[in-house]
Amino acid sequence: MKRIPEPFRIKTIERIAMTTREHREQALQQAGLNPFLLRSDDVYIDLLTDSGSGAMSDRQWSAMMAADEAYAGSRSYYRLVATIDKVFGYPHLVPAHQGRGAEQMLYPELVRRRGAKQPVFLSNFHFDTTKVHIELAGARALNALNKEALDTRQYHDWKGNFDLAELARLIETEGASNIVAIVATVTCNTTGGQPVALGNLRAASDMARRAGIPVVIDATRFAENAWFIREREPAYAQHSIPEIVREMMSCGDIAVMSSKKDGLVNIGGFCAFRDDEDLFRAVQERCVVSEGFITYGGLAGRDLEALAVGLEEAMDPDYLNYRIGQVAYLGERLRAEGIPIQYPTGGHAVFVDAAALLPHIPCEQFPAHALACELYIESGVRAVEIGSLLLGRDPLTGVQEKAPLESMRLTIPRRVYTNDHMDYVADGLAAVARRAQAIRGLDFTYEPALLRNFTARFRWAE
Ligand code: F0G
Repeated sequence: MKRIPEPFRIKTIERIAMTTREHREQALQQAGLNPFLLRSDDVYIDLLTDSGSGAMSDRQWSAMMAADEAYAGSRSYYRLVATIDKVFGYPHLVPAHQGRGAEQMLYPELVRRRGAKQPVFLSNFHFDTTKVHIELAGARALNALNKEALDTRQYHDWKGNFDLAELARLIETEGASNIVAIVATVTCNTTGGQPVALGNLRAASDMARRAGIPVVIDATRFAENAWFIREREPAYAQHSIPEIVREMMSCGDIAVMSSKKDGLVNIGGFCAFRDDEDLFRAVQERCVVSEGFITYGGLAGRDLEALAVGLEEAMDPDYLNYRIGQVAYLGERLRAEGIPIQYPTGGHAVFVDAAALLPHIPCEQFPAHALACELYIESGVRAVEIGSLLLGRDPLTGVQEKAPLESMRLTIPRRVYTNDHMDYVADGLAAVARRAQAIRGLDFTYEPALLRNFTARFRWAE
């Protein structure tokens, strides 16, 4: 198994607690068998998310000291504008406090402008917060994802790709004038941080342009996607990562980003526009109302500086080789233990196929959530469910919906854990997998009406 060593050395360390099994059992009981409700002091290795959980570099910390905290017209804002223009080719920037802040400014404005009778957005896959903001704006969010993405065991290079035939069919049946935008999410978080090929992105974009539909790129994990393109798409093998990023972004008109991932910062987000200055001004107006003045959008000047440095560091090929190599290493260790995962692994996480590992637990007893609880008790590792618990009930019938995948996501923060930590995670999960048949499902003791996965409480099913 290939171990790619870390292309950095460690200058500051953060102590983490080594806990006992007894302590963890108690902590999880107190948290209502919901890892979201654990205190992070009780977690040894935190793989809940790659969002805002990364480590910044010495260059980022020093840029923060040199930031300009002016309320209006900050030099740090102009530095970030120049960086995003250079990296994406989008000169118009509206900062936001995080990805969903940007979505909240952008999507209602797009719906309003399009003035469609039955507004709808099409995507390879709408991330949860994207879907919520589209629906709050009175539109529908439909996905046209390639079928291979749902077959976890079958290798496929591009499990984030659009199903182009389905996309064409949806444009036809919904009517081009009803389609507010096509949203390309790179990488596709929900299927496992899976990449979108440049050829596929270009074809989806051409289809949209022919039909007069704008293209939004959710660039949250843009650098990881570019790395896969260079590795797997022969036409781009000789291109640099920045060249591929520019090419990807040339397929879009608007970018929206949660900087907490490939921005390598702990907080932040933005919208950026290629040439639609009217739209840019309208989103700026919304920014002043909800996020703050147009040159800081809910962030401090130092956050803007750290992001300007982070966007460039995220494209360093040595960093990307190590980063995506680390995720693949964990995936290979698990496969060697016979643990079913979404294969191949994607950019930011290993998705364990809990439905395959725990076939005796039905979807309404949340196999991936039960697995996450067991993994925490076994080893102090915190993972997260991406399955039926997250999906929820049918709003009309109240019946629990069955998610197409019951995944337990082991999400790897950027530049935080070593490959030794990955070995520890793999050993812990292997121990849990050996007693898979004895693992029980979960019943609610408290089920909130909205976004229930964050605050629900459970007991082990009989
Ligand atoms: N788009 C994508 C593709 C995301 O993965 C996320 C967040 C967002 C938008 C929203 O950004 O959190 O900054 O408001 N994903 C996190 C995750 C929460 O754990 O996957 P945000």
